[in-house]
Amino acid sequence: MMVKAVEIKDLKKSYENGQIKALNGINLSINEGEFVSIIGPSGSGKSTLLNMLGALDLPDSGSIEVAGYNLLKNKKLNKFRGDKIGFVFQLHNLIPNISALENIKIPMFTKKWSNNEMDERALYLLDIVGLKQKANNKPNQLSGGERQRVAIARALANEPSIILADEPTGSLDSKTSNKILKQLNKLHKEENVTLIMVTHDMNVAKLADRIIEVLDGKIVKTTDDSLLDNEIKIY
Ligand SMILES: Nc1ncnc2c1ncn2[C@@H]1O[C@H](COP(=O)(O)OP(=O)(O)OP(=O)(O)O)[C@@H](O)[C@H]1O
Ligand SMILES: [Mg+2]
Repeated sequence: MMVKAVEIKDLKKSYENGQIKALNGINLSINEGEFVSIIGPSGSGKSTLLNMLGALDLPDSGSIEVAGYNLLKNKKLNKFRGDKIGFVFQLHNLIPNISALENIKIPMFTKKWSNNEMDERALYLLDIVGLKQKANNKPNQLSGGERQRVAIARALANEPSIILADEPTGSLDSKTSNKILKQLNKLHKEENVTLIMVTHDMNVAKLADRIIEVLDGKIVKTTDDSLLDNEIKIY
């Protein structure tokens, strides 16, 4: 049997005293090492779903298991996030007054690595995103796209088993974006990292093993490679 990275059953989440049903009965199962894209119109619940997967917020009902953690029962959610999850958001939240290298090292402090080991991995990751020469630049000495690339490197720092990415290349030009997606894809394949990515870009979504379409808080379509070209709407 395949090991599950994600097992979600009838997950619901509402806001504004139940008036806004952001998630309205999500069922989803993702295998370890799978690359899944999530698409859907603005306000359909994509980020809410990602927040649930990373235990940044808790659902109202249903069940959710991620990387072997039952997120509704387990109390060690900080450990879960630190050990298992790499986050990439559009608002990258880099710490402004320390270098790119130091920013990337932050998620590593939960590991018992030496400073040399941390430096080595941070430089390796900077190399992957094409920014080794800018290791000592602070965020305000980097372009917007470069900051986003540092944030992607930081998401990989703790060797997560799952990467959750919300429009990770949204602000980048297509050449840089392709390069980074290629590297993310490579890491996902080589290190068996599960990659779950929200995107509006169908060319990006198509890189995944599977595309999931969310509408009004529900999964309305899920597809495999054979259907990628003609079955899914473009937003
Ligand atoms: N913290 C919150 N408080 C109240 N309403 C919220 C909150 N977060 C999300 N919502 C609402 O829940 C719904 C789903 O929002 P969500 O952010 O998941 O959409 P999305 O699919 O990520 O959209 P986009 O593509 O624009 O990022 C929307 O109606 C949104 O306004
Ligand atoms: Mg969103």
